[in-house]
Amino acid sequence: MRRAASFLVLLLCLYWTRAQGESGGVTGNDITQTEVQSEILGVIATSDQTNITPDIWAELKELRDMAIEHSVELSNSKSKMEKLEQENTAIQARLTASENEVVKLKIENTDLQSRVTAFEDKSTVLEARMNATENEVEELKRQNADRPKVAFSLGLTDAGQVGPFNTDITLKFSKVFTNFGQAYSPTTGHFTAPVRGAYYFSFTTVDNRIYVGSVVYLYHNDKRVLWNHDYNDEYGHTNLSNSMVLQLEKGDVVYMVLPASYSVYDDRDDRSTFNGFLLFPL
Ligand SMILES: *[C@@H]1O[C@H](CO)[C@@H](O)[C@H](O)[C@H]1NC(C)=O
Repeated sequence: MRRAASFLVLLLCLYWTRAQGESGGVTGNDITQTEVQSEILGVIATSDQTNITPDIWAELKELRDMAIEHSVELSNSKSKMEKLEQENTAIQARLTASENEVVKLKIENTDLQSRVTAFEDKSTVLEARMNATENEVEELKRQNADRPKVAFSLGLTDAGQVGPFNTDITLKFSKVFTNFGQAYSPTTGHFTAPVRGAYYFSFTTVDNRIYVGSVVYLYHNDKRVLWNHDYNDEYGHTNLSNSMVLQLEKGDVVYMVLPASYSVYDDRDDRSTFNGFLLFPL
C-alpha cells in the first residue's frame, strides 16, 4: 500500500516537471540525470519504503524522457503545421492570381485570334486584287510589246522645184528624219500600214511660182482623201498644210500626189514635209 502511494507521488512529480518544461521552455536536454534522480530520491526519502529497485528508477526516467520527447515533438509538429498552413495560404493566393491571369490571357488570345482571322481574310482579298492587277500588267506588257512602233518625218528634197509634170506623180520624200518601223519607203513614196489601226498624217508643201495655183493630194490606197489648193497672185511662196486621222487595214498605203501641171518646192530649209504615226492598233 505504501509502495503504491510512493509511486503515485512520483508520477505526480513527473507530471509537474513536464508541465514546467512546456510552460517555461525547459527542454529535455536541460534536465540532467542527477536532477531526476535527486527528485525521485527526495520523494523516496519522505517514505520509509526503501526497497524500490534501480530498474524501476531507470524505467521511470525513461518514461519521463519519452513524455518530454513527445511533448517537444508535438510542439515541433504544431509549429510545422502552422508554417505549412501559412505556406498553403500563400500558395492558394498565388494560384488564384495565376488563374485570373490565365482567364485574362485566354480573353486576350481569343481577341488576337479573331484579329488574325480578320487580317488573313483581308490579306486574301488583297492578294486576289494583287493577282488581278499583276495579270493586267502582264497583259498590258504583252500588248505593248506586240504593238509596233510606227512614226516617220520626211523632207521632200534639197533640189529646189519639183514639177510641173504632164501627169500626176507620187511625191517621193527622200530626206528621212525619222522612220520608225520602216513603214515609209522613200523609193516608192508609199507609207504601208504594218497593222490595222488609227494613223495620224500631216504635211506641208511650198510652191515658189507666182501667178499659178498650187495643189497637192493625200491618197489612201486609190482613194483621194485630201485635195488642197492655193493661188499665188502676187509674190513669194504659197503654203499648203493639212492633217488627218485615217483608219487603215494592215497593208493599206498612204501617199502624197502632185497633180499634172503643178509644182512644189523644197531646199535645205525643209519647207515641204510629210509626217505620220500609228495612234493605236485596232
Ligand atoms: C494568287 O496567285 C498565286 C500564284 O498564282 C496563287 O498561288 C494564289 O492562290 C493566288 N491568290 C488568290 C487569293 O487568288
